[in-house]
Amino acid sequence: MIAPSILSADFAHLADEAQAVAGADWLHVDVMDAHFVPNLTLGLPVVESLLKATEIPLDCHLMIEDPGRWAPPYAEAGAHNVTFHAEATDDPIAVARDIRAAGAKAGLSVKPGTPIEPYLEILREFDTLLVMSVEPGFGGQSFIPEVLQKARIVRNLVDSGELRLLVEIDGGINADTIEAAAEAGVDCFVAGSAVYSTADPGATVQKLRSQAASAWAR
Ligand code: DX5
Ligand code: ZN
Repeated sequence: MIAPSILSADFAHLADEAQAVAGADWLHVDVMDAHFVPNLTLGLPVVESLLKATEIPLDCHLMIEDPGRWAPPYAEAGAHNVTFHAEATDDPIAVARDIRAAGAKAGLSVKPGTPIEPYLEILREFDTLLVMSVEPGFGGQSFIPEVLQKARIVRNLVDSGELRLLVEIDGGINADTIEAAAEAGVDCFVAGSAVYSTADPGATVQKLRSQAASAWAR
């Protein structure tokens, strides 16, 4: 699955930018609060407008403090996935349950330096694990290959039937890095600059998807 990130799109034309990737599986929406990360993007009102402007399921990635307070409204609004950061809360299970109760899939995200082992037990409360392959905050950074070990660990637990969730990766995904991520067992690939810097973002989504599919087949 490919999830183009609108962080790299033109914020004055978000409806058109969503239309440009109409064949994408999810549309990735980066919510930043200038506290959890040193950048500020968009929030619930923009997500509500986007929900009316596109049929693509919204994959909301909340890089914010206090997700227990702010995450459930994204689910109530109609986001498909609501993902928050493990580093931002002491009670990730409660937040996941609130998101699910509000009607969305719950995602847990970990920064590149955050180990996955302490969270393996609680992943049964989640539908998605979002492995960050750059420091959250900005698009256009270089992929950190060391994080793939986390994807492999969780892939093995999914394949052995111990967990049921999708493994997603975010940051620095492009034609040069997507195959390594697919070989590590990633199901869903977020790509911002690699999609929106091209003349035909829709065609780039298709190319990335077939590259990932061939790597999966190997
Ligand atoms: C970074 C965001 C990413 C970002 C990825 O904090 O979470 O979703 O848009 O951008 P690229 O694909 O350019 O690394
Ligand atoms: Zn993101």
